[in-house]
Amino acid sequence: MTKLTKINSILSCIFAAVIFSCNTSQNSPAKTSGNPFGKQVDSILSLMTVEEKIGQLNLPSSGDITTGQAKSSNIAKKIEEGKVGGLFNIKSAAKIRDVQKIAIEKSRLKIPLLFGMDVIHGYETTFPIPLGLSCSWDMEMIKKTAQMAAQEATADGINWTFSPMVDISRDPRWGRVSEGSGEDPYLGSEIAKAMVHGYQGDDLTKNNTMLACVKHFALYGAPEAGRDYNTVDMSKIRMYNEYLPPYQAAVDAGVGSVMASFNEIDGIPATGNKWLLTDLLRNDWGFNGFVVTDYTGIEEMVYHGVGDFQQVSAQALTAGVDMDMVSDGFLTTLKKSLDEGKISINDIDAAVKRILTAKFELGLFEDPYKYCDETRTKTEIFTKENRDFARKVASGSMVLLKNDNQLLPLKKSGTIALIGPLANNAVNMAGTWSVATKQDLSNPLLEGLKTVAGEGVHVLYAKGSNLDYDLAFEKRATMFGKTIPRDGRTDKQLLDEALAMASKSDVIVAALGESAEMSGESSSRTNLQIPQVQKDLLNALLKTGKPVVLVLFTGRPLAIVEENAQVPAILNVWFSGSEAGLAISDVLFGAVNPSGKLTATFPMNVGQVPIFYNHKNTGRPLGNNEGRFEKFKSNYLDVRNEPLYPFGYGLSYTTFDYSNLKLSATEMNVSGSIEASVDVTNSGNYDGKEVVQLYIRDVVGSVTRPVKELKGFQKVEIKKGETKTVTFKLTESDLKFYNSNLDFVSEPGMFQVFVGTDSNAKLMKEFELTK
Ligand code: BGC
Repeated sequence: MTKLTKINSILSCIFAAVIFSCNTSQNSPAKTSGNPFGKQVDSILSLMTVEEKIGQLNLPSSGDITTGQAKSSNIAKKIEEGKVGGLFNIKSAAKIRDVQKIAIEKSRLKIPLLFGMDVIHGYETTFPIPLGLSCSWDMEMIKKTAQMAAQEATADGINWTFSPMVDISRDPRWGRVSEGSGEDPYLGSEIAKAMVHGYQGDDLTKNNTMLACVKHFALYGAPEAGRDYNTVDMSKIRMYNEYLPPYQAAVDAGVGSVMASFNEIDGIPATGNKWLLTDLLRNDWGFNGFVVTDYTGIEEMVYHGVGDFQQVSAQALTAGVDMDMVSDGFLTTLKKSLDEGKISINDIDAAVKRILTAKFELGLFEDPYKYCDETRTKTEIFTKENRDFARKVASGSMVLLKNDNQLLPLKKSGTIALIGPLANNAVNMAGTWSVATKQDLSNPLLEGLKTVAGEGVHVLYAKGSNLDYDLAFEKRATMFGKTIPRDGRTDKQLLDEALAMASKSDVIVAALGESAEMSGESSSRTNLQIPQVQKDLLNALLKTGKPVVLVLFTGRPLAIVEENAQVPAILNVWFSGSEAGLAISDVLFGAVNPSGKLTATFPMNVGQVPIFYNHKNTGRPLGNNEGRFEKFKSNYLDVRNEPLYPFGYGLSYTTFDYSNLKLSATEMNVSGSIEASVDVTNSGNYDGKEVVQLYIRDVVGSVTRPVKELKGFQKVEIKKGETKTVTFKLTESDLKFYNSNLDFVSEPGMFQVFVGTDSNAKLMKEFELTK
């Protein structure tokens, strides 16, 4: 027996023992009371060389899809040498099996790999972009989208998703506003929980659940000037009250991993920020999963200017990072730092233990190929059933912004002119960050409209314009195969064709807005309008005098003041995924009554940004004079303070009337609770769903408090003519906030409770909190 085979046989024995003793029915979310795999993890750790330990902390990209500057090479060789802990951006059970085999059959310690991917809003079956999904306010549905995404991704070999993205953002210039759940910490926290539970289920050892990764920790959604990757600077009190809650909610829900963000916090990049990654995340919040950097996060600390490559790699590790995505900083410098006494073996061991624990939790030591079942690949991905669900989710996420004279729903008769650069485009429908989507198979609006309209409707189509006048801009805005092929005709020829179609129609449906890649990563904008060429097209269509419905595609809140003034009906469809065309048509023809509500404020113009409903009052508020200019008050000379559409806003084909707001008492003791009830009547002509929203205002505080804060919502189905009484319960935890010592407290005194259809809710009752 050679020395090597002898070692191998010893290892096999130890492994058998380790694995045999492992309890595979451990529930991941219940990880708080110590590590159930501690013994097994320690036995493996005792076999590892320093190089192998560092290898576990390395996460290269497979090279199939690159999103940053770095490229990885020789992956297979590195896996053999034990220098890789996981891999991401590799798709298909067969390929993943092959790669896993290298780790299991060729590396000395046979430690299985993690396989990660950005499974953000669905897998091959693609749901609306997260901002759109959040507008459904439907937690069960959102959870089910994550479950289905996990089902599909795990059937294709993947066991770890870089989702949910829970960054609060109040700045629609920032392109990644599309990837989150909008501006509200309460709603954002509910969605964070729903998604973690959806991905991870109650048992990570099952082969259809996967490890989730909450990102981007932290505050990534507040970059200066809305420019991606830019500096963040924020007071602690704002951080704790307004930006951190959704990350903490994900941690409380048992999320298995956390991704550090690109930005700095208090002058220290998040990737190397010990206060953030250890003091707050682990010590205060009790997180016991592992922390991964974002793409080249370690390398980027050099550009932030906090040290050379070796220094920043050591800083990341000691700050609390466990896994280095793409930088190779851990791989190439940690040994040297260890030899020079700049880090300790305990720092490395702590990180390795967390990575190994995650692999145990997933059941990978027991069966490294458990996600590589090709029969599942064939039967569980992009199925009819999943696509039908995606269609429902998509229509449930759309927001009706305007509907004068009940122009919508459309009648199933006559001639419709469908016009616009997004009217007959499949590849943009999935939206940004949809790496696994079958973008060619998404249904475009033209196809959906014809299918749903049926024989009785004559549908005409013209492109009408390109995406933008500027070809160079258009190229930047149509990356990753999400093209809108430039039409060779002149702008005038395109417009003439559209006007000819329009003249033959009874109603015009204009499919306009952003392309999918005008939002998302590295897609910040300083202009929040629909591209000018499309505005010109829309104006020409309006001039025909025919009724116009604007179907608005967007990944962010847009400033559409002119459109709002001139177009009678506007349906915001975001990018609604694989079944976009059918789902939009379901809403246009009234098979689905729209029920989405905005989760991010739509500004009047870019100068109002950042704009959000839960702002403070200032010492010079406009008060009841909102909408009118007053000298020496907090307002603008040239635009009102209020947004175009507030948070929570969204119309229905029916109308809902609110009345009879009652509180169960006028006083509430801190140990008690209070109930708020309201009658909601469907006073229109259609059955519908309404998101009933409850906001509070803490009238006097030791620190200033927001004018309104969402503290409850319910999506209720109400038949036409029917009245439902909707009841909410408030307890002390709903009234707590972080004070200037960063203590989480409630303070006795008066509270106002508002209930209504959006954040402008006016029905109000008061109660007093007593100690
Ligand atoms: C993004 C992350 C993503 C990662 C891996 C980065 O560029 O910021 O959100 O998870 O790439 O693809």
